[in-house]
Amino acid sequence: YGRDPIFPEGFLWGASSAAWQVEGGVAEGGRTPAIIDLNSKTKKPYADNSIAADHYHHWKEDVQLMAECGFTSYRFSLAWPRIIPTSDGKINPEGIQFYNDLIDELLAHNITPIVTLYHYDMPVWVDELGGWRDRRVIELFDHYVRVCFEAFGDRVKYWLSINEQNMQIVYGKWLGLDKGCADWEKDKWRINHIMNLCHAKAVIACHELVEGGKIGPVPGYVPIYPESCKPLDQIAAMNAEELTEKIWNDLYAFREYSGFVKQYWKLHDIDPDIRPGDMELIGQAKIDYFALNCYRSNVAKDCPKEESYLELALNKEGKKGQFVYPKFPGEYALAPNPYVETTDWDWEIDPVAMRYMLRYVWDHYRLPMMITENGLGAHEQVGPDGQVHDANRIAFLRDQIYQVGLAIEDGCEVIGYNPWSFTDLLSTGNGMAKRYGLVYINTTDEETLDLRRIPKDSFYWYSRLIRSNGRDW
Ligand code: BG6
Repeated sequence: YGRDPIFPEGFLWGASSAAWQVEGGVAEGGRTPAIIDLNSKTKKPYADNSIAADHYHHWKEDVQLMAECGFTSYRFSLAWPRIIPTSDGKINPEGIQFYNDLIDELLAHNITPIVTLYHYDMPVWVDELGGWRDRRVIELFDHYVRVCFEAFGDRVKYWLSINEQNMQIVYGKWLGLDKGCADWEKDKWRINHIMNLCHAKAVIACHELVEGGKIGPVPGYVPIYPESCKPLDQIAAMNAEELTEKIWNDLYAFREYSGFVKQYWKLHDIDPDIRPGDMELIGQAKIDYFALNCYRSNVAKDCPKEESYLELALNKEGKKGQFVYPKFPGEYALAPNPYVETTDWDWEIDPVAMRYMLRYVWDHYRLPMMITENGLGAHEQVGPDGQVHDANRIAFLRDQIYQVGLAIEDGCEVIGYNPWSFTDLLSTGNGMAKRYGLVYINTTDEETLDLRRIPKDSFYWYSRLIRSNGRDW
């Protein structure tokens, strides 16, 4: 690289996971089903999460491996149905115990826990009451997060509210959040408002109950470039940015809805159902930092009103495929980027997007930032030598981390890097076929194997890098 960017002392180096994707043990320890468990049995694109990486039974070994790697942080999520399994709101002591043990083990190895309150595992009992669609969820969520802060807040100081609320709304139809909605395009803004109120409740309760506690949102971030210097392409890129990210980030940071979204609602005849007192609640929810999930970038171009909406566009080879360039007539259309390579799943490999995102968020909000997801999903196997040689992941992470370093030198305040994922785990859409881990889990979607943990080459590379605080590339 020619020169080494300097990472600040105390930078949080670790990795990331989410309960439903890693734990398994879905019917153990008093946990009741989450909606995602049911989806994972019946519905593509989910894969069965009843075993996943079986972290529920391997947590001690997993923390041991994190310590061997030299982690100073670990970002994971709490499963709501493990903590409050039933509609009577009673706390499940076994659920609390499981996370207490995990947190204590992390701390015993000097690993700072970074805890997400909600990462897609809505309890079935909450969903039966209407889930995010019904305002009753606000009080239920408030109760749940208060239980978490009271149980773990003496040791956990970094908290995250709702994982990728923006992506849940933008891709809600694909994720099944539109269940029970008559008109998703309109209803999603009402649901989004309810989620904003839940986020606000979490922020307020964290500050009230956790001494020295810090909390932030976790937007899923896909930086967007204009396709060309055509002025309307720039506006299209700004529209895409607003409609997929900025509307949410503005709300979290400024605690009010932006002029852009208010105008959008007006133009599309949308009523987000903002009730008296709601904005006052949101107004009190002052976040401490932004946690950012970033894997890829996108390109946007002008898309006149007259064009028709095309849901599944052609992929790079001209076949109908997973690689989509949707059009949103009057707003923007996505387009391919000839300057970047793509992953096995057609996600753009774009390390510079990492620096761009950090600068963008810093310039707009002036809040500390932490990377909570970033990584390479790939097909992988154990080689004849019993090892997993993931040179592509090493190259991916090296380039991305380098850009984090450059962003720090650009003046951005970045406090940690926690890529996705520590062990292989279930991808949201592609199960174990799409592996992200620094540690291989010996199992497949077709057959449960011995679930052995095999550190990949990237584990050893990352270990050297983080032990040198980003000097040994
Ligand atoms: C993020 C989610 O959007 O992307 C994770 O927070 C997810 O839950 C990750 O696993 C990668 O996406 P995918 O679809 O490849 O699993």
